[in-house]
Amino acid sequence: MPFDHNDHYHRAMARLVPEGARTALDVGCGTGRFARRLAGLGIEVDAVDPAPEVIEAASSAPVSGVRFLCADVTRMELPAGRYDYISCLASLHHMPFGTVAAFRDALAPGGVLAVLGCYAERTAADFAWSLAAIPVNAAARVAVAAGERMGGTRAGSVPAPVRPPDMSFEEVRREAASLLPGFSLRRLLFWRYLLTYRKPAGPRLPG
Ligand SMILES: C[S@@+](CC[C@H](N)C(=O)[O-])C[C@H]1O[C@@H](n2cnc3c(N)ncnc32)[C@H](O)[C@@H]1O
Repeated sequence: MPFDHNDHYHRAMARLVPEGARTALDVGCGTGRFARRLAGLGIEVDAVDPAPEVIEAASSAPVSGVRFLCADVTRMELPAGRYDYISCLASLHHMPFGTVAAFRDALAPGGVLAVLGCYAERTAADFAWSLAAIPVNAAARVAVAAGERMGGTRAGSVPAPVRPPDMSFEEVRREAASLLPGFSLRRLLFWRYLLTYRKPAGPRLPG
């Protein structure tokens, strides 16, 4: 198993779970590694992916608190205001960016949408980040390979479907600005961005 850029950011993604969260949706869950991590925090997780082979692999090791669903999230009717946390790890570029509007609406008041996204490299800044990442990536791969020689490889991993991203970092910023008021967006080292949006908490009810 080579160094996995998405898994590398699991800890950062888990830190974005709002306090007291009880429900989560993991979009494009692959074999469910991040969904399991969320369940480990005591959260009920709906983990969705349309690729039958990854859902089959994920379901072969069931975990209490995670419901794996073989489905295309863009065709689902997500319940309004349901989830305290919605995560997309390297999956948003598989669907129209506007799908974030459905995620926004499915967040409970005070809920958080966290997108670990991939972007198409277009500008000098993009290539500069890429250049900076290459030696760190090489070192991380060596470290992971050494760890595997000592501890054995992770068994039973099925590769999740991948595709190259179409949107540039600036296009992501522009579209997010129109759909996710108050969003934050930053680049991460390993060819990823982190987009976050917190839904405003509802007005306090009297009494
Ligand atoms: C690059 S993989 C990432 C998998 C996993 N999140 C991870 O970090 O390892 C992208 C995943 O998004 C899934 N995906 C693609 N289109 C989707 C859709 N419309 N709804 C939900 N998931 C989708 C793919 O099947 C694939 O498993």
